[in-house]
Amino acid sequence: MGEERGAGSGEAGGRGASPAGVGATGANGPAAVGAALAGRTIVVTGATGQVGEPVALALAAAGSNVVAGARFTDATARARLEQGGVTCVAVDLGAGEVGDLPAEADVVLNFAVAKSNRWATDLDANVGGLAALMEHHQRASAFVHCSTTAVYKPLGHHVFDEDGPLGDNHAVWPFLQTYSISKIAAEATARWAARRFALPTTIARLSVPYGDRGGWPAFHLELMRAGKPVPVHVDAPSVYHPIHERDIVAMVPGLVEAAAVPATVVNWGGDEPVSIEEWCGYLAELTGLDVVFAPTTDTIDSVQIDLTRMHRLLGHTSVPWRTGMRSMVVARHPELLARGGTTTTPS
Ligand SMILES: NC(=O)c1ccc[n+]([C@@H]2O[C@H](COP(=O)([O-])OP(=O)(O)OC[C@H]3O[C@@H](n4cnc5c(N)ncnc54)[C@H](OP(=O)(O)O)[C@@H]3O)[C@@H](O)[C@H]2O)c1
Repeated sequence: MGEERGAGSGEAGGRGASPAGVGATGANGPAAVGAALAGRTIVVTGATGQVGEPVALALAAAGSNVVAGARFTDATARARLEQGGVTCVAVDLGAGEVGDLPAEADVVLNFAVAKSNRWATDLDANVGGLAALMEHHQRASAFVHCSTTAVYKPLGHHVFDEDGPLGDNHAVWPFLQTYSISKIAAEATARWAARRFALPTTIARLSVPYGDRGGWPAFHLELMRAGKPVPVHVDAPSVYHPIHERDIVAMVPGLVEAAAVPATVVNWGGDEPVSIEEWCGYLAELTGLDVVFAPTTDTIDSVQIDLTRMHRLLGHTSVPWRTGMRSMVVARHPELLARGGTTTTPS
């Protein structure tokens, strides 16, 4: 066990981005994943979630045989997946019950995450469940584990590359006490299992996903609608790398391609660093809603990331943040856009 295999050489280089840039989808239209994974059997766990569902549906639309794994606590999400040609298989990662997933699948994309805020539950699902999944799928050609930039130590406006210091980023939020630590532990599991099973693996540290289905900026929009202040860190501005759902979907083949032993670790975010202050200001401009910021130390700090490796392995993102946020408002609250101070779409 432990013999190196896989398409890319991970941290040492990998195959690199396709010449056109894997993320080049254009700013509008449905999320598209391209034909690179057509005809292959792909297991997508967490397929009813914010990030997993559009990926599963786009892969199925592009001709992959997609098997979705979740407990399917959301029956409507299951129905949407089945309508999109996805086969749904109930699994419970917390119990390590993944045996009904097809062990012969070519590729596994793990977007499942437990955020119960209970240590035992979240460690069992996010860490133990990942171990069970990688063991079950040890013969796959690639395993992509979705991690988070919430694994980085809070360090103000430091720009983190993949070797940056890790820490309990989300400890400041009482409702997400288990998140950063269980995600760090999950990365350790993925690293170990990649070697143990010689399973080419990518660990993708996702920044702030958003789109028509929601995300953190959509949550801020709801705060603004309710007339509530938006928390920002006192060390202003609060900067992240929001990445639109269309870019997430378009970069999946690159993440698969980058899988290697030892595991490839890559930051995964939008090309443009954008602050909460900037995106809420733009949402206010679009909708005419007021935004009131509440600077505090009781919220997470900026997490800025170095995207050099992402650009080499996956290409660039293509949805300008203002275009993506405007699309989000149109999808979720079109009535607000009509009253806004502007209806132009910045390029
Ligand atoms: N959303 C963000 O802002 C953000 C930011 C950075 C990174 N990420 C990462 O992106 C990935 C996807 O996150 P998300 O926001 O899409 O998550 P989400 O919307 O909360 O969805 C979580 C998914 O995991 C499944 N799941 C939860 N517990 C499970 C269990 N015990 N067994 C099997 N499946 C289980 C859920 O389905 P059931 O409940 O039906 O089982 C659901 O499909 C995660 O790795 C997350 O850490 C997210």
